[in-house]
Amino acid sequence: MQRAAILGCAGYAGQETLDRVLGHPELELVALGSDSLAGRPAGALDPRLNGSLPAFVTNAEAARRDVDVLFLCLDNAAAAAFEPPAGTVVVDLAGAHRLTDDAAASMWYGTAPGAWSYGLPELFPPEGPLIANPGCYATAALLALAPLRGSIAGAVIDAKSGVSGAGRSLKASSHAGSVLENLTPYAVGAHRHAPEIGQQLGVPVCFVPHLLPVRRGLLATCYVQTGADARVLLEEAYGESPVVRVLPEEVAPDLARVQGTDAAEIGVFTDGETGMTIVICALDNLGKGAAGQAVQNANVALELEPAAGLRLSGVLV
Ligand SMILES: NC(=O)c1ccc[n+]([C@@H]2O[C@H](COP(=O)([O-])OP(=O)(O)OC[C@H]3O[C@@H](n4cnc5c(N)ncnc54)[C@H](OP(=O)(O)O)[C@@H]3O)[C@@H](O)[C@H]2O)c1
Repeated sequence: MQRAAILGCAGYAGQETLDRVLGHPELELVALGSDSLAGRPAGALDPRLNGSLPAFVTNAEAARRDVDVLFLCLDNAAAAAFEPPAGTVVVDLAGAHRLTDDAAASMWYGTAPGAWSYGLPELFPPEGPLIANPGCYATAALLALAPLRGSIAGAVIDAKSGVSGAGRSLKASSHAGSVLENLTPYAVGAHRHAPEIGQQLGVPVCFVPHLLPVRRGLLATCYVQTGADARVLLEEAYGESPVVRVLPEEVAPDLARVQGTDAAEIGVFTDGETGMTIVICALDNLGKGAAGQAVQNANVALELEPAAGLRLSGVLV
């Protein structure tokens, strides 16, 4: 067994990572880090957590434990300030280490990128022990578009995410009174996932996120001009993947089918009027968009089964 610790367990990404680690056949949870819950039993986070788990300790205390892998489920500033222990695999679910260009990293996260590798296992497997887990929107856009890079000069990406993408802390913009029965574009033309997607694609993208009145799930509709056969490229890229499914012709991705899972669905269409290629990706922002992908990255770094610990099976309604 490989020993694991999670920092920032009280947040949504932390709780979902905890769920995956508890179900992982090769990971043993040895420390639950949370500054807000330190000193309290595991059940203080969720009554489904039973007495066999260790109590919460501070994030600093959890980081000092002798482990093989650390999951950082912290906000961007705390993740940027984190000093990784030597010889430990660290998967950072925040954004601070994703951008490799100094100026871009400084502009969007106020930090220098450091020696972290961007890890999206199906497309950009992580190299080395320090792994920057991609953003949720970026994951969906890159799964849809990266197999086409080289054949596109840019892309327009219209994306929508459930409200858990904004985290557990209360904010006016994610309050039920703002979200329910509403659909809101935000950070229009100025979202930090746009440079992240552009960095990995090698071309700039126009990206507009929207807040959907659902708890979880994310859908990105990507519009490109390409001379390539997108379906062939996508099926080649994901034919062997247990996580990413390219749907048959005329079948569109569906949020409900991926909610609560670590899977992603991709649909490929041609617009009858313009000839544009439309690639749509649906995933769960907390699954393939966060915790599921973090565990996939840890599996690569620790040389475990690629899909160990993931939530993939079932035909839930
Ligand atoms: N939410 C997503 O869909 C998603 C997807 C991809 C990446 N991420 C990234 O993952 C990181 C964590 O995101 P998140 O969505 O988990 O944010 P979050 O729910 O706001 O949690 C962030 C941190 O705040 C503390 N916290 C959260 N809720 C709290 C509460 N109710 N009471 C007290 N403390 C609370 C937790 O630290 P302590 O446990 O130490 O108190 C936690 O680490 C961020 O950098 C985010 O960008 C999130």
